[in-house]
Amino acid sequence: MQVLRPRGPLPGDRPFTADWRHLAALRNGEVIGACSLGPAPWPRADLAQPPSPQWQFRSLAVLPAHRGGVGSALVAAATGLATDEGVGSLWATARVAALSLYERQRWQVVGPEWDKPGVGPHKYVIRLIR
Ligand SMILES: CC(C)(COP(=O)(O)OP(=O)(O)OC[C@H]1O[C@@H](n2cnc3c(N)ncnc32)[C@H](O)[C@@H]1OP(=O)(O)O)[C@@H](O)C(=O)NCCC(=O)NCCS
Repeated sequence: MQVLRPRGPLPGDRPFTADWRHLAALRNGEVIGACSLGPAPWPRADLAQPPSPQWQFRSLAVLPAHRGGVGSALVAAATGLATDEGVGSLWATARVAALSLYERQRWQVVGPEWDKPGVGPHKYVIRLIR
């Protein structure tokens, strides 16, 4: 079995609560990618005021051998789920290397680049749902 995130939770990751949703991408019955989303207040009201309810999108990962379209499909599925759930906006901390993936799906990059210890350069991104 391969592990999507061998290092486990990243610094600052809060434990998931029961109201979070977890999406898996399957290929031939095997989980090849995943992401999570759930209620969490946008932490940077100084940068933007996205509509409530505010949900966080996080822990997007696809097994290396299966990359190429799957990550975008998971982001699109999460956006669809958020729409169905009446979410006002999704926010995430995105690796700078992944910003183009989000921007292609109408996420907005907000604020300056900052360093997530042990992971690297990040920016906040927001997707308005309604
Ligand atoms: C990010 C990730 C999920 C993309 O999966 P994928 O199936 O290749 O996604 P897609 O083909 O739909 O999109 C490709 C995009 O992924 C992003 N990407 C590519 N390599 C990446 C890397 N090493 N790290 C982070 N993002 C990367 C880019 O935005 C790329 O778009 P581009 O081709 O315009 O540069 C996958 O690379 C991964 O699991 N990386 C490790 C974990 C991670 O970085 N998660 C994202 C945290 S914000």
